Amino acid sequence: KMQQFVANLLQKMTLEEKIGQLNLVSVGFDVTGPVVSKDVDANIKKGLVGGVLNTYTPVAARKLQALAIKESRLHIPLILGYDVIHGHRTIFPIPLGMAASWDLAAIERAAHIAGQEAAADGVNWVYSPMVDIARDPRWGRVAEGNGEDPYLGSLIAKAMVRGYQGPANDMTRPENVMACLKHYALYGAAEAGRDYNTTDMSRQRMYNEYLPPYKAAVEAGIGSVMSSFNDVNGIPATANHWLMTDLLRNQWGFTGFVATDYTAINELEAHGMGDEKKVSELALNAGIDMDMVGEVFLKQLATNLKEGTVTQAAIDQACRRVLEAKYRLGLFADPYHGVSEKRAKQVMMQPAFIEAARDVARRSMVLLKNEQQTLPLKKSGSIAVVGPLADRARDMIGNWSGAGDGKQAVSILQGIKNAAGAGVKITYAHGVNVTDDDQMIKRLNAHGGELNLDTRSAEAQIQEAVQAAQAADVVVAVVGESQGMTGEAASRADIGLPGRQLDLLKALKATGKPLVLVLVNGRPLTLPWESQHASAILESWFGGTQAGNAVGDVLFGAYNPAGKLTMTFPQSVGQVPIYYNHKSTGRPYVGELLDKYKSRYLDAPNDPLYPFGFGLSYSTFTYGKPAVSQASLRPGQGLDVTVTVQNTGQYDGEEVAQLYIRDLVGTSTRPVKELKGFQKIMLKKGESRALTFHLSADDLKFYNDDLKFVSEPGEFQVFVGGNSRDVQMASFSLAAQ
Ligand code: IFM
Repeated sequence: KMQQFVANLLQKMTLEEKIGQLNLVSVGFDVTGPVVSKDVDANIKKGLVGGVLNTYTPVAARKLQALAIKESRLHIPLILGYDVIHGHRTIFPIPLGMAASWDLAAIERAAHIAGQEAAADGVNWVYSPMVDIARDPRWGRVAEGNGEDPYLGSLIAKAMVRGYQGPANDMTRPENVMACLKHYALYGAAEAGRDYNTTDMSRQRMYNEYLPPYKAAVEAGIGSVMSSFNDVNGIPATANHWLMTDLLRNQWGFTGFVATDYTAINELEAHGMGDEKKVSELALNAGIDMDMVGEVFLKQLATNLKEGTVTQAAIDQACRRVLEAKYRLGLFADPYHGVSEKRAKQVMMQPAFIEAARDVARRSMVLLKNEQQTLPLKKSGSIAVVGPLADRARDMIGNWSGAGDGKQAVSILQGIKNAAGAGVKITYAHGVNVTDDDQMIKRLNAHGGELNLDTRSAEAQIQEAVQAAQAADVVVAVVGESQGMTGEAASRADIGLPGRQLDLLKALKATGKPLVLVLVNGRPLTLPWESQHASAILESWFGGTQAGNAVGDVLFGAYNPAGKLTMTFPQSVGQVPIYYNHKSTGRPYVGELLDKYKSRYLDAPNDPLYPFGFGLSYSTFTYGKPAVSQASLRPGQGLDVTVTVQNTGQYDGEEVAQLYIRDLVGTSTRPVKELKGFQKIMLKKGESRALTFHLSADDLKFYNDDLKFVSEPGEFQVFVGGNSRDVQMASFSLAAQ
C-alpha cells in the first residue's frame, strides 16, 4: 500500500518538487552550524522543502505544516525534526549518565517519555539515539552517547528505538516519533578527541568494536539515519558509498532514509572532495537522501542530472525514501498528528514524568568512593554545601537539553535541602568559579553556556567556603564542568576539574572535615588528588530536571546507589584512549617495576583510575566462583554460567553483575575482556542469589580478517564480577567439530 501510494505521488511530482523533498531547513531556536535557512515559508509553498528542524510548539508546528499541506501544489506534509537527546521538556540525565544505570527498561521509558512530549510539541522526528562508541573523554560528545562498550551500547540503542518508535514501530500513533540513528559512522573515534576530526580504523575494529550499536538500531527498525561529519578511512561519511549503501543498506538491510548532519554536504568541500556541484553528486550517489540545511541538493542536483553525473532513478529513490518515512509516520493521513495546545498542556511534564526523571537520575549516579561509610549522610548536625555547581539549576539539564528549561530544574543545593529536612543546618558558599579562563568564558557565553561568575577573587571565595566548612560537620562540594563544557564542539585537552576547583577542594580538606564530592560533568575526568583525598565521591553527571532531588535521595540514603561506569576514568590524560576491552599486545605489562621492555609508561601506570563497570553501593556484594554448564562445547552450542552473589553489607541494594569472556587463541587477536551479559538485581541485606547467564553460540563469534562472523575452536575464559577489573574466572573450550 505504501509503495503504491508513494509511486503514484512520485508520478505527479516535477523534478524541482522531488529535489525539494530532499531539502531539510532549520528555523528558529537552535543553530549548531555556520548557516541558517532563509526564505523558509516561501520555499515551503513552492514545494522546495521536505522537512524542517529546530522548531517546536503546537502553534509553530501547525503553522509550518499548514503552509505545506494547504499552500504547496501537491500538499505533501513536512517532517519536523528536533534534537531530543535526553528528554524534551522533562529532562533526563545525559545519555552517558543514563547508560550508567545499566537499566534498559528505565532508558526505554525515558526515551518514550521524551518522544511523547516531543510529539505533543509537534515534533515527529527526533535526532536520537546517538550511539557512537567513544574511548576518548577529551571529546565533548561522549556525554551524548553510551560509553565505550559495543554490547551494552547495542542493547541501549535497541531500547531507545523501542522507546521512541513504540514496541511495534507504529509511528502513526500520536505518542510515537521516528528515531534517527547518529552519527553514522564512527564519529566517536575522532582523532585526539577533537570534534569533527578524522577517523581512520581497520575494518576489523569497525565491525567488532564500533559498528555493533548502529547495526543493532537498524535491526530494531529505526526509521532514519544521520550521516556523521567525519572522514572515514579517507572518504567522509557523507560521501561514503561503502558506508551509506554497501554496509547500511546492502549488508544490514536498512530501508529508511538517510539525512546528513548540519551542512555536512557543503563541508565535503572543506574536506577536499571538490566544489559544490561535485559534492552534491558525491553525496547523492553515496546514498544520502536528505540535505540538512546546506541546500546543496536544491542548488545542484538539477545540474548534476543534466550533466549525467547523477541519474533520475537516484533522485527518485531518495525522494521515495523521504516520502515513505512520512507515510510511516502517518503524516499523509493526519499531517498534524493530533497536535494541539490542549494536548501539549496535558502531556508535558506530568507528575509521572517528573517522577521518572528523578528515578532515572538516581539510577544513573555512580558512587566512586565511600571511605569509612561517610555516606549516607545523617539527617542531623550541619552541612556546608559549597562549589560553583551547587546552586545552579540551569547546568543540571546539561547540553542538548532540547526544549528543557533550566529554571524548572532542581539544583543540588535545593535537593539537599529538600532531602535533609528541618533537622539539618545547611550553609552554602559558592567557592570558586567553574573556570577563570577568559577565552573559554567568552566562548561559553557566546553559545548559550553562560556561567555564574563571582567577581570576587578566588582567594576570597575559598576563604568564605573554608569558613562555612569549619562551622559544619561535613562538607559537600559540588564541582565539575558547566553544561557548556561538554557536548558538541566542546572538546577539552585537559580533563581535570577546570579553574581553581582543585584549590578549593584542597583548602576544604585542610579543615579536617569529611569531604564529600558531588561531581557534575559530562565525561570521565582525571581525579588523581580527589580520588585520594575526598572522603566520598558521587558521580552525578548532568542529572536533568530532577538532578538535585536525585542527589538528595542518594546522599541521605533514600536510594542506595547502583550505577556503574560505562566509560573508563583515566588516571591522566596521557593514558587516553583507555578502555577495558583492549588487546593484549605481544609484551603485556603485568606489574613488575623493573620490567623494561613491556607495553607500559615510564611515568604512569597502565591501570585506569576507575575501570569500566565500576560503581560502589552503600552495601557490599560478594561473588562466588562462576561455574560453567559444560567445559567443552561443539560449534553452534551455547552454555550457561552460574554464579552466586551475596549482599554482604548493611543495606538492601541493587547490583549489576557483569559477565565477560576472553577468547584466548584466534586467527585474529582478541580483546582481553568483552562484556557479554549483565543482570541488574536487587538483594536484601544478607540475601544471596544464584544467577545464571546464558552465553549463546553467537556470543563467542567475532568478525575475522575476512569480515566473516565466526567462532573459532580453542580455550575461552569467562569472568563474572561487579566491574570489569574485579572478577572471578572459569573456563571452557570450543571444539573444532
Ligand atoms: O542532531 C544534531 C547533530 O548531533 C549535530 N549537528 C546538528 C544536528 C541537528 O541539530
